[in-house]
Amino acid sequence: MKAKESLKKTDFSLTDVISIYDFSKADILSVLKRAKEIEAMTEEKKSKLLEGKTVASMFFEPSTRTRLSFETAIQNLGGKVIGFSDARVTSAKKGESFSDTIKVMSNYADILVMRHPLSGTARLAAEVSSKPVLNGGDGPNQHPTQTLLDLYTIQKFVGKLENLKIGFVGDLKYGRTVHSLAAALTHFNACQHYISPPSLKMPKHIKEEVEEKCKIKETEELEKFIPEVDVLYMTRIQKERFPDELEYNKVKDAYVLTKAMLKNAKKEMKVMHPLPRVNEIATDVDETEHAIYFQQTASGIPVREALLDILSRVKK
Ligand code: CP
Repeated sequence: MKAKESLKKTDFSLTDVISIYDFSKADILSVLKRAKEIEAMTEEKKSKLLEGKTVASMFFEPSTRTRLSFETAIQNLGGKVIGFSDARVTSAKKGESFSDTIKVMSNYADILVMRHPLSGTARLAAEVSSKPVLNGGDGPNQHPTQTLLDLYTIQKFVGKLENLKIGFVGDLKYGRTVHSLAAALTHFNACQHYISPPSLKMPKHIKEEVEEKCKIKETEELEKFIPEVDVLYMTRIQKERFPDELEYNKVKDAYVLTKAMLKNAKKEMKVMHPLPRVNEIATDVDETEHAIYFQQTASGIPVREALLDILSRVKK
């Protein structure tokens, strides 16, 4: 059982994965290291890591990548999946509280994976669950497993995590993936450019936290910054987060990255996106050496396998 022994108990300090703010640099690096180890394992060895374990996959909000890469990871590791992808088919529809649902599910499963449209629900779930909880996104708040797969992708395709220049583009107000990644990169001395319309700026509390450790620049201009960055992290303007559709219509086409706009980019610059995209990256970018957003989705499997493997050995 050498694979399990390679992760010492002290390498990972958490019992739940709720927010990237809970992670030390050592926690982040231990997940990335474990993902690399698991990716190199034979299928047979991998399929024993969650043997006899059941994981609940509870999606109160739509998802393609997070839900299906978690469910693939569970199956690859030999675990069983139970759950739902639409809360309307659960007893929440009859008025059962969120807390009661979580308490019940923690009697049925060894690990709970969840996504919910409201900020703070994953933290609440971790408080009432007797089993480890993995946050697959809570409203505009946090998406820590996306951040870990983003870091894994950067490490793999850019070759380093330290001293990056990264441009975050689009919906920085409601974008949970940028909130999580901006915070994680404070451990790695990143210079961060925030490129958004004025109404979708990075929230002040996140800027203040990041600014304590990293240089930041804020702008509305995208093209001017493209030659400077190592990574351009594009995001979708999220219609579902706007209280007012008129406000959404004002900004929905604010940034559309095209191949022509990349002519002055560094040769090795990478374009990332958590996906889904709508129109913010033209499809002609897909064929360039810069585009790594589909490879980024593939990182979801080893990283989520690593998190499940680690949490399967945690005692709450
Ligand atoms: N990146 C991401 O969270 O995608 P899904 O919403 O499809 O899970």
